[in-house]
Amino acid sequence: MSQKTALVTGGLGGLGAAVCERLGRSGHTVVTTYTADNGRVAQWRERLQERGVTAPIHAVQCDVADWDSCAAMAEAVHEQAGPVDILVNNAGITKDGSFKKMTRENWDAVMRTNLDSVFNVTKQFADDMAGRGWGRIVNVASVNGRKGQFGQCNYAATKAGMHGFTMSLARELAHKGVTVNTVSPGYLATDMVMAMKEEVRQQIVDTIPVRRLGEPDEVASLIEYLASENAGFITGANLDINGGLHME
Ligand code: CAA
Repeated sequence: MSQKTALVTGGLGGLGAAVCERLGRSGHTVVTTYTADNGRVAQWRERLQERGVTAPIHAVQCDVADWDSCAAMAEAVHEQAGPVDILVNNAGITKDGSFKKMTRENWDAVMRTNLDSVFNVTKQFADDMAGRGWGRIVNVASVNGRKGQFGQCNYAATKAGMHGFTMSLARELAHKGVTVNTVSPGYLATDMVMAMKEEVRQQIVDTIPVRRLGEPDEVASLIEYLASENAGFITGANLDINGGLHME
């Protein structure tokens, strides 16, 4: 595979780091965004290098929920790593609570970070990909955007919304060599899922047909494929990877 430049938002987190590792091991230059460093960038860099990533890796501070921050990030990425060929919109948060208890703040925060971010970040790079005639955009959604989940009206709405974005942009960019796809992971062994109450998590695992949480690397390998040259005929698709929790 020829060497490309990949930008992964939220690449310091569980799934994001696995995606950075996969893409880096394929020889791509990897750039991640992060909100707060607190030593995490150095740990991320060390972990990737320990795991055999020799390609250049960069980290740029950015609040994906904020347009101006994304514009500044795009300039920094261009300076440090050149044009972006592969974009993985992975950054996301949860603020779970039943609708009855859901506050306006928790609705807005999840909308901004999970969905506005997809506009804010993709807008910085899509024209350039189209102009250069090649690009891969992968939006990381969730099984809960596909089936809904008690306590996640905000999160599920953003994740379902992401796929509407995917299908529309896929139609606009298909003839320019740019594919746009959604990956909808189920429950993975990441900090986000481990932050749930243990008994709730266990109840959910009991309903997953494969009877376990997914590994971040299982999802990263699917994203690596969608980002590859070989995946040029897949666009506007949603790929479910959830251990059978939701089937359609
Ligand atoms: N199903 C049915 N009823 C439930 C329920 C559930 N999952 N959870 C709570 N209830 C009931 C409670 O028993 C309670 O009933 P009563 O009023 O009769 O007592 C009522 O709903 C209200 O419960 P709470 O006061 O506890 O509700 P809450 O607003 O504090 O929040 C919750 C509940 C913590 C959000 C809980 O529902 C929950 O943990 N849900 C799962 C959320 C989830 O799956 N998050 C995934 C995070 S990881 C992720 O999102 C990654 C990914 O993409 C998969």
